[in-house]
Amino acid sequence: MASPSRFSRRNFLVTSGTGAAALCVSGNAGGYTAEDMRSRAADDTLTGISKWELDTPALCVDLDKLTQNIATMQSKLGGMKVASRPHGKTHKCPTIAKLQLAAGSVGICAAKLSEAEVFSASGIEPILMTTSNVTAGKIRRAMALRKTNHQFVQAVDYPQNARDLNDAAKEAGLVADVVVDIAIGTRSGVPAGDRALALAQLVDTLPNLKLRGIISYDGSAQHFKGFRNRLEQTLNRFAPSVETYDRFKRAGLSTEIFSGGGTGTYNILPKAPGVTDVQVGSYIFMDCQYLEIGGESNDEVYTDFAPSLTVVTTVLNTYFPKSITTDAGAKALTLNKPGPWVIGEKDFSYNAGSDEFGVIKYETAGRSYTVGDKLELIVPHCDPAVNEYDQMYAIRNDRVEAVWPIAARGRSQ
Ligand SMILES: Cc1ncc(COP(=O)(O)O)c(C=O)c1O
Repeated sequence: MASPSRFSRRNFLVTSGTGAAALCVSGNAGGYTAEDMRSRAADDTLTGISKWELDTPALCVDLDKLTQNIATMQSKLGGMKVASRPHGKTHKCPTIAKLQLAAGSVGICAAKLSEAEVFSASGIEPILMTTSNVTAGKIRRAMALRKTNHQFVQAVDYPQNARDLNDAAKEAGLVADVVVDIAIGTRSGVPAGDRALALAQLVDTLPNLKLRGIISYDGSAQHFKGFRNRLEQTLNRFAPSVETYDRFKRAGLSTEIFSGGGTGTYNILPKAPGVTDVQVGSYIFMDCQYLEIGGESNDEVYTDFAPSLTVVTTVLNTYFPKSITTDAGAKALTLNKPGPWVIGEKDFSYNAGSDEFGVIKYETAGRSYTVGDKLELIVPHCDPAVNEYDQMYAIRNDRVEAVWPIAARGRSQ
């Protein structure tokens, strides 16, 4: 069998910085009870303690890696003359949104209206909602939000929805900003071409709507494996959106915003003409799904951004041979595949299928484990994992520097 390459998952897990730290952890890590944690979180005295002392499962974000990821994205997109408009659905955390804006992002995206409301209430103004609001109640709320936040822009993909938004904007006494969502695939958006153009022309005639441009996001393309393959497929699949963008321009319609893409295509979408910004989400945290897709400089592991988000978990059971049970199951990590990666352990297979328990099976381990030991995990998929927690611990040099509320956690409406 070929030996694992320098860039393989196995090597990545044992050579990454956090991996080394995890291997240094020995048994009897001590820790805090849930009650201790609540009282400490309230008076913020958790700051300064080691992440290995946190009660678990604990969602942690490494501050140096997070800020490096933000800086890397800014400099790479800047080099391609395209802006970032990070998606807030990934972190649901106003503190992180503010870091992204401070680093130069042109705005924050929101997937859900309730998410947008949380960001706006925390003082964030440039918000682009990438999902359309179709029910009367949501449309009313969207207009109420627009009334207090003049930089709120929302997606539209149906003519009737445009008329409904226009009526609600009129009732609220305002002109609401919208972008036409052009579909790639079949998830959402108006089909590219004639129907997208007709929708934009309709929006343009409605007195209480202001057309701001186009969004066009390709969810599938983000995880196509292999950079060359992703490059070719992304640009092919995006071509109808570019043609429609050209038709908007020729028709004199606004193309001030032409936004799309994500972490997997951040360095591909800017090659398409007209693109103004990329809606990158996961790059700040990374996760197993993204690490597996490979990048331009590394075909096996996507190393453009560092995995900053981890869950620290406690070993609960080691009675059984080649088996370890932890306290992080589906409610701590979700059922997303692939299973979590255990930092520092290249042969562990982690099954988070049980609600409250993680079950690890292995043939060989880098060390021996006992009840109370801690392990650190890279999550399968960052967005839904973050949504499981009220707060994340902002860690520097393995110590808690701050406790950040995940204020829009659970805001799925
Ligand atoms: C509309 C839209 N834009 C951007 C993103 C961000 O994608 P990623 O996390 O892959 O960067 C998402 C994620 O699902 C999305 O739905």
